[in-house]
Amino acid sequence: MSEVNSPINLNLKSPDLFRDKAYVNGQWIEAKSGKRFDIIDPGTDRKFASCPDMAAEDVDDAVKAAQAAFQTYRTFTPRARSELLTKFYNLIQEHKDDIATILVYETGKPLAEAYGEIDYASSFLRWFAGEAERVQGTTFAAALPGRRVFTIKQPLGVTAALVPWNFPIAMVLRKASAALAAGCTMVAKPSPETPLSALTLAYLAEKAGIPKGVLNILPTTLANTPSLSEALCRHPLVKKVSFTGSTRVGKILSAHCADGLKKLTLELGGNCPFIVFGDANLNQACDALMALKFRHAGQACVTANRVYVHRDIYEKFSHILAEKTRQIQVGHGIEKGTTMGPLTVPTGVDKTAAQVEDAEKNGGTILTGGNRITSRNGYFFEPTIITNASQAMKIASEETFGPLLALFPFDTEEEALEAANNTSMGLASYCFTKNVDRMWRMFENLEAGMIGLNTGNSSAAESPFGGMKDSGFGKESGKDVAINEYLITKTGTLTLEGQY
Ligand code: SIN
Repeated sequence: MSEVNSPINLNLKSPDLFRDKAYVNGQWIEAKSGKRFDIIDPGTDRKFASCPDMAAEDVDDAVKAAQAAFQTYRTFTPRARSELLTKFYNLIQEHKDDIATILVYETGKPLAEAYGEIDYASSFLRWFAGEAERVQGTTFAAALPGRRVFTIKQPLGVTAALVPWNFPIAMVLRKASAALAAGCTMVAKPSPETPLSALTLAYLAEKAGIPKGVLNILPTTLANTPSLSEALCRHPLVKKVSFTGSTRVGKILSAHCADGLKKLTLELGGNCPFIVFGDANLNQACDALMALKFRHAGQACVTANRVYVHRDIYEKFSHILAEKTRQIQVGHGIEKGTTMGPLTVPTGVDKTAAQVEDAEKNGGTILTGGNRITSRNGYFFEPTIITNASQAMKIASEETFGPLLALFPFDTEEEALEAANNTSMGLASYCFTKNVDRMWRMFENLEAGMIGLNTGNSSAAESPFGGMKDSGFGKESGKDVAINEYLITKTGTLTLEGQY
């Protein structure tokens, strides 16, 4: 951690997009404590920026600013909100080169993936710009004569977003787009690793004309994260919290929110199964698995953690997969030709290494990879495939969050289904087969909120995103369901004169 890169080192086309102060009530501010913390490039393990270390004592000002802004913002017409979101979308598209660079340095992901994230993230703005204008109430035929029953939907108020580092702008925008479309305001806490891209978003939101106080960003350290998050969850003016992260933390936040009866959306851990039947198109399944597993070095909740392959095709499938995996170019995300970057945090490397060691101890064979990459300074691990995986291994029950893929052989559909569902998690599951009856059975019987059928990618603005079991509850994105998370349905009952 020797060298400090200035914004100039990032070579941004518009250096003003580099923001390294907190954003509250339209002001760029420092923490009350005056403390700042370092932002590290995971591809070199070097500091390249710093941010104010906001703490619990900084929360009240941000929430009060968001509450004051809500009083006006809630009166904006849906069309006006939609237009603001569209302007915000256009500015992100205009500045995608700079945003991609910031994302690469914060997360480590390759440049091409950073562009992919920008398109995915901004698609939420475009989608919710439409949703803003489609919020509907209802009328009901009443049971009693002279009575009229109807509903309207109204924004909840101040909301809080607690956001992870793996898709830092997609996760901010998936939450903020829905909240702002509904007429809510938001205080967002980005992850300690990735505050800069969130602050760039705030800057572009301001340029788009989103009024001060509507979107506020509080960067903070890992040390201050629990108390700052608790202060947000317990603040009486915060009406809803949306969190993406681990199941462990989700349960803690849930307890904080329970006291104030706060509405909550929890997008938690995955440990997702990926099942390949004997009749699947193996190249299709392989390509889907490669893209899903090695995207951002395996650091996604929806990534494939356990891969079940029918015994008849096990050898062939492993061979194709290993060939493709060996072609992955590991390097710094900004380097030309890199197809997999470092992990974002060093503990991710340790966890992957521990799972590989454990798999070997339990009879697994390393088909390719298996090692830390020590020739570079960042947090690198080889893309790795383990064969002969079994239930005894940690990888069967623990989410990896690294570039490690374990192949479990199976013989029957029942066996595959039972193994796939044998987890407390239920975020996403994937199934590859050409048998339409089996496909339908798997869709109905896999215990997860999202099922990929002959695809490894079911994330999109139009698709409801969310899990079941220990993967949480509530939906983000998709029609109606996601915006409704930020709305209250108010019921009106009217009795007509002379008819009561
Ligand atoms: C995640 O897996 O953490 C989110 C990825 C997505 O939205 O596809």
